[in-house]
Amino acid sequence: MDHGKLEAQRLVLQAELDAQKSQVERNKLGQFATPTALAREILSASLGLLPPDETIRFLDPAIGTGAFFSALLATASHARIAKAVGYEVDAHYGSPAIELWRGTGLDYRMGDFTTQEPGERANLVICNPPYVRHHHMTKEKKISLQDASEHTFGVRVAGLAGLYTYFLALSHAWMAENGIAAWLVPSEFMDVNYGRAVKKYLLGKVTLLRIHRFEPHDAQFNDALVSSSVIWFRNAPPPPTHHVEFTFGGTLADARVRKMIADTDLADEPKWTHYPVSGVRIQRSGARIGDFFKIHRGIATGDNKFFLLTAEQASARGIPAQFLRPILPSPRYLKDSEIPAETDGTPKIEKPLFLLDCRLPPEEVAARHPALWAYLSSGIPRVSNRYLCAHRSPWYRQENRPPAPILCTYMGRSGGKNGKAPFQMILNHSKAIAANVYLMLYPKPSLQSAIDERPELLHKVWQFLQTVRLEEMLDEGRVYGGGLHKMEPKELANVGAGEIAELISLGKPQRRSLSAAE
Ligand SMILES: C[S@@+](CC[C@H](N)C(=O)[O-])C[C@H]1O[C@@H](n2cnc3c(N)ncnc32)[C@H](O)[C@@H]1O
Repeated sequence: MDHGKLEAQRLVLQAELDAQKSQVERNKLGQFATPTALAREILSASLGLLPPDETIRFLDPAIGTGAFFSALLATASHARIAKAVGYEVDAHYGSPAIELWRGTGLDYRMGDFTTQEPGERANLVICNPPYVRHHHMTKEKKISLQDASEHTFGVRVAGLAGLYTYFLALSHAWMAENGIAAWLVPSEFMDVNYGRAVKKYLLGKVTLLRIHRFEPHDAQFNDALVSSSVIWFRNAPPPPTHHVEFTFGGTLADARVRKMIADTDLADEPKWTHYPVSGVRIQRSGARIGDFFKIHRGIATGDNKFFLLTAEQASARGIPAQFLRPILPSPRYLKDSEIPAETDGTPKIEKPLFLLDCRLPPEEVAARHPALWAYLSSGIPRVSNRYLCAHRSPWYRQENRPPAPILCTYMGRSGGKNGKAPFQMILNHSKAIAANVYLMLYPKPSLQSAIDERPELLHKVWQFLQTVRLEEMLDEGRVYGGGLHKMEPKELANVGAGEIAELISLGKPQRRSLSAAE
């Protein structure tokens, strides 16, 4: 048997079959294949966890065209493979794959894995389960899966759980004692509520060996936007205490960061994505940014196209200056992270932008400011009935938000241009407020009174904020596939900031701590 040739044929087949389906159809059945290199890495790491002389009984509950079976053939000797079984629900992939693997010994079975009676036990379960979101499953299907997995998990899985969660639970009954499983799953289970059942299972029912999380911008699948992890465990009750290997980044064989974490720490930690980059104790001790700043998302205007105007647009429409408040443009239009101001408080930037901010009732606007009234009237058919506007009175009224001296971009992409950090900290000397593409940081009284005494402190605090390690920010910010990050106010508030306390108390910059943070 020529494995290389079969794998080449499989890749051609995979590409053809994928191309015959729309993205929506593939999403519904979670049809995103594992790249060859990754499948082989997972196989060789998993084989390393089995005794070297043990024969292999392989199971892939969601086999597709057979990326893992192919990788098994490439990494284990043929003689060692006693049995290989795969399940697939979709004949679109199944029928051609059965032809491809004919004569290789693979027992390729068509059917919904979640409704199968557990059969022969496998000592090597390798799976990239379908990442089907809960809303693609019928209510009845969800209930039957919740019922079926409750025994394994020891708790009922929350309704928001994706199909992959149930695959994991249902495979348990197919595992031989001391068998090894490797699951390529979305990283989100480590942080979200519905992941609790999975974590309980991993800590209580089996022996969790290792979790590798890929760097968020290293999306493992070219065609699906997910941040992935591989989980390895042994089907054996956990020892009284043990450590789990957490690795992050790089490749499976050569991870960028590696740490052993005690199962007791894992049991206490709600967000496992804190590992291995920063340990619980580091995260939980010392002052946080939220001790010094009140953090709010920038304002939601209701319709930026309508309410945000350049000076030229505002003057062309005759809108009086008293109804225009400076507002920052989107971060991509800011050249610098420090924003100087004109004497009237307008930001000194290339194209200042203004928020149309009028609190007068419609009758008064109509009577006293006809040009403004004409513009507002033009928004009645399209803007006034939008969700936010419809809930305001009058519909064009904007939130009264003071400017903030420091802002942080709300969204960003790591590994982007010039290795720029995803979240940019901006020092704002102007009176501009900001829309919800920014977080606005308002000094709390302890910091504000120190700044009032020593205005240069603000600059130093901003300098410190710029040096906060990327890892620590990402640790708090939500990570999406493709390296996209969002930072909610609460998450930024939770980032460590002992240095700000030092800056306040010492009255001058802490050279040591600043450079340590760099
Ligand atoms: C993420 S893909 C993985 C395919 C392959 N194992 C790989 O790694 O490239 C998941 C596969 O599971 C199949 N699938 C979806 N629901 C299934 C079910 N209920 N039972 C069995 N297979 C299912 C999909 O059609 C798809 O081929």
